[in-house]
Amino acid sequence: MSKIIVAIDGYSSCGKSTTAKLVARQLHYAYIDTGAMYRAVTLYFCQNHISHTNPKEVQKALENIHITFRRHPETGSNDTYLNGLNVEDEIRKMYISDRVSDVSTVAEVRHAMVAQQQRMGRSKGLVMDGRDIGTVVFPQAELKIFMTSDPLIRAHRRQEELLAKGELVGIEEVIENIKKRDYIDTTRAESPLRQADDAILIDNSMMTVEEQVELVVRLADERIGQAIRRGE
Ligand code: DC
Repeated sequence: MSKIIVAIDGYSSCGKSTTAKLVARQLHYAYIDTGAMYRAVTLYFCQNHISHTNPKEVQKALENIHITFRRHPETGSNDTYLNGLNVEDEIRKMYISDRVSDVSTVAEVRHAMVAQQQRMGRSKGLVMDGRDIGTVVFPQAELKIFMTSDPLIRAHRRQEELLAKGELVGIEEVIENIKKRDYIDTTRAESPLRQADDAILIDNSMMTVEEQVELVVRLADERIGQAIRRGE
Protein backbone atom coordinates (compact mmCIF):
# COMPACT_ATOMS: atom_id res chain seq x y z
CA MET A 1 0.00 0.00 0.00
CA SER A 2 1.44 3.39 -1.01
CA LYS A 3 2.03 5.82 1.80
CA ILE A 4 2.24 9.57 1.51
CA ILE A 5 3.21 12.54 3.66
CA VAL A 6 0.46 14.99 4.62
CA ALA A 7 1.90 18.39 5.57
CA ILE A 8 -0.43 20.79 7.39
CA ASP A 9 0.78 24.34 7.98
CA GLY A 10 -0.95 27.46 9.19
CA TYR A 11 -1.34 30.12 11.84
CA SER A 12 -1.50 29.49 15.60
CA SER A 13 -4.75 28.10 16.99
CA CYS A 14 -6.55 27.54 13.72
CA GLY A 15 -7.29 23.89 14.41
CA LYS A 16 -4.34 22.29 12.62
CA SER A 17 -3.54 19.83 15.39
CA THR A 18 -7.14 18.74 15.95
CA THR A 19 -7.60 18.11 12.23
CA ALA A 20 -4.19 16.51 11.73
CA LYS A 21 -4.69 14.09 14.63
CA LEU A 22 -8.07 12.88 13.33
CA VAL A 23 -6.85 12.63 9.73
CA ALA A 24 -3.90 10.52 10.92
CA ARG A 25 -6.25 8.25 12.84
CA GLN A 26 -8.48 7.70 9.79
CA LEU A 27 -5.54 7.00 7.50
CA HIS A 28 -3.81 4.82 10.14
CA TYR A 29 -0.81 7.14 9.88
CA ALA A 30 1.51 8.51 12.56
CA TYR A 31 0.87 12.07 13.71
CA ILE A 32 3.60 14.53 14.67
CA ASP A 33 2.85 17.90 16.27
CA THR A 34 5.99 19.92 15.50
CA GLY A 35 4.74 22.89 17.54
CA ALA A 36 5.04 20.59 20.58
CA MET A 37 8.73 20.11 19.76
CA TYR A 38 9.40 23.89 19.74
CA ARG A 39 7.36 24.16 22.94
CA ALA A 40 9.46 21.43 24.60
CA VAL A 41 12.67 23.26 23.64
CA THR A 42 11.18 26.46 25.10
CA LEU A 43 10.34 24.64 28.34
CA TYR A 44 13.92 23.36 28.59
CA PHE A 45 15.23 26.91 28.01
CA CYS A 46 12.92 28.24 30.76
CA GLN A 47 13.82 25.53 33.25
CA ASN A 48 17.55 25.90 32.65
CA HIS A 49 17.66 29.69 32.23
CA ILE A 50 18.99 29.46 28.68
CA SER A 51 18.97 32.71 26.74
CA HIS A 52 17.81 32.09 23.16
CA THR A 53 20.05 34.95 22.03
CA ASN A 54 23.24 33.28 23.30
CA PRO A 55 24.43 30.88 20.54
CA LYS A 56 26.85 28.98 22.81
CA GLU A 57 24.20 28.32 25.46
CA VAL A 58 21.70 27.31 22.75
CA GLN A 59 24.12 24.86 21.12
CA LYS A 60 24.98 23.23 24.45
CA ALA A 61 21.32 23.02 25.42
CA LEU A 62 20.34 21.40 22.12
CA GLU A 63 22.85 18.61 22.77
CA ASN A 64 20.99 17.84 26.01
CA ILE A 65 17.45 18.00 24.64
CA HIS A 66 15.79 14.74 23.64
CA ILE A 67 12.18 14.97 22.49
CA THR A 68 10.02 11.92 21.89
CA PHE A 69 6.32 11.16 21.54
CA ARG A 70 4.57 8.32 23.33
CA ARG A 71 1.02 7.15 23.24
CA HIS A 72 -0.80 7.61 26.54
CA PRO A 73 -2.19 4.18 27.50
CA GLU A 74 -5.48 5.57 28.89
CA THR A 75 -6.31 8.66 26.82
CA GLY A 76 -4.72 7.37 23.60
CA SER A 77 -3.18 10.82 23.05
CA ASN A 78 0.30 11.20 21.62
CA ASP A 79 2.13 12.85 24.52
CA THR A 80 5.33 14.89 24.29
CA TYR A 81 8.32 13.79 26.39
CA LEU A 82 11.31 15.95 27.18
CA ASN A 83 14.33 13.92 28.33
CA GLY A 84 12.04 11.07 29.38
CA LEU A 85 9.48 13.19 31.26
CA ASN A 86 5.90 13.74 30.12
CA VAL A 87 5.61 17.51 29.51
CA GLU A 88 2.37 17.46 27.50
CA ASP A 89 0.43 19.66 29.95
CA GLU A 90 3.27 22.00 30.87
CA ILE A 91 4.14 22.96 27.27
CA ARG A 92 0.55 24.11 26.58
CA LYS A 93 0.64 26.74 29.35
CA MET A 94 0.53 30.44 28.60
CA TYR A 95 4.09 31.21 29.77
CA ILE A 96 5.38 28.79 27.11
CA SER A 97 3.06 30.25 24.42
CA ASP A 98 4.47 33.66 25.30
CA ARG A 99 8.08 32.61 24.63
CA VAL A 100 7.87 29.86 22.01
CA SER A 101 7.80 32.06 18.91
CA ASP A 102 11.02 33.83 19.94
CA VAL A 103 12.75 30.50 20.59
CA SER A 104 11.57 29.24 17.18
CA THR A 105 13.32 32.12 15.39
CA VAL A 106 16.73 30.68 16.35
CA ALA A 107 18.35 29.01 13.32
CA GLU A 108 20.19 26.34 15.38
CA VAL A 109 16.93 25.33 17.08
CA ARG A 110 15.16 25.06 13.73
CA HIS A 111 17.95 23.02 12.14
CA ALA A 112 17.91 20.51 15.00
CA MET A 113 14.11 20.16 14.94
CA VAL A 114 13.88 19.92 11.14
CA ALA A 115 16.55 17.18 11.06
CA GLN A 116 14.60 15.15 13.63
CA GLN A 117 11.30 15.71 11.78
CA GLN A 118 12.83 14.56 8.50
CA ARG A 119 14.08 11.38 10.18
CA MET A 120 10.55 10.73 11.50
CA GLY A 121 9.15 10.97 7.96
CA ARG A 122 11.64 8.69 6.23
CA SER A 123 9.18 5.86 5.75
CA LYS A 124 6.21 8.19 5.01
CA GLY A 125 2.73 7.33 6.32
CA LEU A 126 2.77 10.50 8.37
CA VAL A 127 0.64 13.57 9.07
CA MET A 128 2.77 16.44 10.37
CA ASP A 129 1.57 19.89 11.35
CA GLY A 130 3.49 23.11 11.93
CA ARG A 131 4.61 26.26 10.15
CA ASP A 132 7.27 25.10 7.68
CA ILE A 133 6.35 21.49 6.92
CA GLY A 134 5.33 21.98 3.28
CA THR A 135 8.04 24.56 2.59
CA VAL A 136 11.14 23.30 4.44
CA VAL A 137 10.69 19.96 6.22
CA PHE A 138 8.96 18.05 3.41
CA PRO A 139 8.89 20.23 0.27
CA GLN A 140 8.18 16.99 -1.64
CA ALA A 141 5.10 16.07 0.49
CA GLU A 142 2.35 14.58 -1.67
CA LEU A 143 -0.35 16.63 0.07
CA LYS A 144 0.13 20.11 1.50
CA ILE A 145 -2.60 21.97 3.34
CA PHE A 146 -2.43 25.57 4.50
CA MET A 147 -5.04 26.26 7.17
CA THR A 148 -6.37 29.60 8.22
CA SER A 149 -9.38 31.02 10.03
CA ASP A 150 -10.81 34.26 11.35
CA PRO A 151 -8.52 35.68 14.13
CA LEU A 152 -11.37 36.16 16.62
CA ILE A 153 -12.58 32.59 16.11
CA ARG A 154 -9.01 31.38 16.65
CA ALA A 155 -8.76 33.39 19.90
CA HIS A 156 -12.00 31.92 21.25
CA ARG A 157 -10.89 28.38 20.37
CA ARG A 158 -7.56 28.95 22.11
CA GLN A 159 -9.26 30.42 25.18
CA GLU A 160 -11.50 27.36 25.44
CA GLU A 161 -8.50 25.05 25.10
CA LEU A 162 -6.71 26.84 27.94
CA LEU A 163 -9.84 26.77 30.08
CA ALA A 164 -10.23 23.02 29.52
CA LYS A 165 -6.72 22.70 30.98
CA GLY A 166 -7.65 24.86 33.98
CA GLU A 167 -6.05 28.13 32.86
CA LEU A 168 -8.39 31.11 32.82
CA VAL A 169 -6.99 33.74 30.42
CA GLY A 170 -8.83 36.88 29.27
CA ILE A 171 -9.74 37.11 25.59
CA GLU A 172 -7.64 40.28 25.15
CA GLU A 173 -4.52 38.49 26.37
CA VAL A 174 -5.22 35.53 24.06
CA ILE A 175 -5.71 37.85 21.06
CA GLU A 176 -2.46 39.69 21.87
CA ASN A 177 -0.56 36.39 22.10
CA ILE A 178 -1.98 35.14 18.79
CA LYS A 179 -1.18 38.45 17.03
CA LYS A 180 2.34 38.48 18.40
CA ARG A 181 2.97 34.87 17.35
CA ASP A 182 1.53 35.47 13.86
CA TYR A 183 3.85 38.44 13.46
CA ILE A 184 6.98 36.62 14.65
CA ASP A 185 6.14 33.40 12.74
CA THR A 186 5.58 35.20 9.41
CA THR A 187 8.43 37.71 9.59
CA ARG A 188 11.32 35.67 11.00
CA ALA A 189 14.39 35.32 8.74
CA GLU A 190 14.68 31.54 9.09
CA SER A 191 11.88 29.59 7.34
CA PRO A 192 8.98 31.99 8.01
CA LEU A 193 5.41 30.76 7.88
CA ARG A 194 4.12 31.03 4.34
CA GLN A 195 1.81 29.05 2.10
CA ALA A 196 3.76 26.70 -0.21
CA ASP A 197 2.96 27.34 -3.89
CA ASP A 198 1.41 23.90 -4.23
CA ALA A 199 -0.50 23.93 -0.91
CA ILE A 200 -4.29 23.83 -0.78
CA LEU A 201 -5.76 26.68 1.25
CA ILE A 202 -8.50 25.77 3.73
CA ASP A 203 -10.25 28.58 5.58
CA ASN A 204 -12.08 26.72 8.34
CA SER A 205 -13.83 29.72 9.97
CA MET A 206 -17.22 28.33 8.99
CA MET A 207 -16.37 24.63 8.96
CA THR A 208 -16.90 21.96 11.60
CA VAL A 209 -14.01 19.72 12.62
CA GLU A 210 -15.77 16.79 10.90
CA GLU A 211 -15.99 18.74 7.63
CA GLN A 212 -12.30 19.65 7.73
CA VAL A 213 -11.25 16.08 8.47
CA GLU A 214 -13.47 14.72 5.70
CA LEU A 215 -12.02 17.18 3.20
CA VAL A 216 -8.38 16.44 4.08
CA VAL A 217 -8.95 12.66 4.12
CA ARG A 218 -10.61 12.89 0.67
CA LEU A 219 -7.65 14.87 -0.68
CA ALA A 220 -5.23 12.39 0.91
CA ASP A 221 -7.08 9.44 -0.66
CA GLU A 222 -6.77 11.11 -4.07
CA ARG A 223 -3.02 11.57 -3.60
CA ILE A 224 -2.60 7.98 -2.36
CA GLY A 225 -4.42 6.83 -5.53
CA GLN A 226 -2.05 8.89 -7.66
CA ALA A 227 0.98 7.42 -5.85
CA ILE A 228 -0.36 3.90 -6.49
CA ARG A 229 -0.81 4.67 -10.21
CA ARG A 230 2.76 5.97 -10.35
CA GLY A 231 3.80 2.62 -8.87
CA GLU A 232 5.35 4.15 -5.75
O1 DC B 1 1.46 24.91 16.73
P1 DC B 1 1.83 25.62 18.05
O2 DC B 1 1.03 26.84 18.31
O3 DC B 1 1.85 24.69 19.21
O4 DC B 1 3.33 26.10 17.81
C1 DC B 1 4.03 26.80 18.80
C2 DC B 1 5.07 27.72 18.17
O5 DC B 1 6.11 26.95 17.56
C3 DC B 1 4.57 28.65 17.09
O6 DC B 1 4.25 29.92 17.60
C4 DC B 1 5.70 28.74 16.11
C5 DC B 1 6.56 27.56 16.38
N1 DC B 1 6.58 26.56 15.31
C6 DC B 1 7.48 26.73 14.30
O7 DC B 1 8.16 27.74 14.26
N2 DC B 1 7.58 25.78 13.34
C7 DC B 1 6.83 24.69 13.35
N3 DC B 1 6.98 23.76 12.39
C8 DC B 1 5.88 24.51 14.39
C9 DC B 1 5.76 25.48 15.35
